[in-house]
Amino acid sequence: MRKNNHLEFSIYRYNQDIHDSPYMESYFFNMEEIRNMMLSDVLFKIKKKDPTFSFRISCRQGVCGSDGMNINGRNGLACITSIKDLLKKCKKVVVKPLTGFTILKDLVVNMSDFFDRYKEIFPYIIENNENGCIKKRNHIQSISQRNKLNGLYGCILCACCSSSCPSVWWNTDKFIGPAGLLTSYRFLSDDRDHGKNFRLNHLQDSFKVFKCHNIMNCISSCPKNLNPNRAIRKIKIMLLKNMLNLT
Ligand code: SF4
Ligand code: SF4
Ligand code: FES
Repeated sequence: MRKNNHLEFSIYRYNQDIHDSPYMESYFFNMEEIRNMMLSDVLFKIKKKDPTFSFRISCRQGVCGSDGMNINGRNGLACITSIKDLLKKCKKVVVKPLTGFTILKDLVVNMSDFFDRYKEIFPYIIENNENGCIKKRNHIQSISQRNKLNGLYGCILCACCSSSCPSVWWNTDKFIGPAGLLTSYRFLSDDRDHGKNFRLNHLQDSFKVFKCHNIMNCISSCPKNLNPNRAIRKIKIMLLKNMLNLT
């Protein structure tokens, strides 16, 4: 709702120590004052009005992934969501925490499951450790090898994709989810990595990858314009070949 040139921000509030259930609280700000701001600036203004309001934030430039939240029904980063753009499409701004996560307080969610699944893909180069020792050496890459990684390494772990994926909601503890699988494919594609078979064998079950049903929400919700679904489809092909010993 817009009142006397003021824009309404309807914000999800919940503190389990005080409230029986969550509720939406409205804050109004003069449109001229906030027009050129980012949503994160407005959240700080709310925090000034009510210091008990909680949200995560760090870099304020779209690189740390701390401030993923649901903004007018779509997941995004508050620090790179401009009020000007929001005003083009809405009469009021509704902000909720990421869907599918346990709420800790207000917009802050528990991301433990998300990071536990991420750890399961071994997000680092696996060295050739014949004879039990890791070789100390340079990791040389040709230009074409390096180009294979384009579009695969820009994930900032904001969880906007996983939060919009129904398969993650229903299989939180078993399906790796779009963010983890995008990074998994990044290491499967890296010529410097010696863990391909190990990685594929680890992913080879009916949940970790195959619970992706190509719903594609992950693509539309990624603030970095990455395509986790394409990476997942490629991993599925690798897994099928691995199963049939075609690699
Ligand atoms: S394409 Fe797969 S990973 Fe992406 S939202 Fe759909 S089910 Fe989830
Ligand atoms: S793939 Fe995109 S939406 Fe998913 S965690 Fe990475 S940056 Fe965020
Ligand atoms: S605060 Fe770091 S991405 Fe928004």
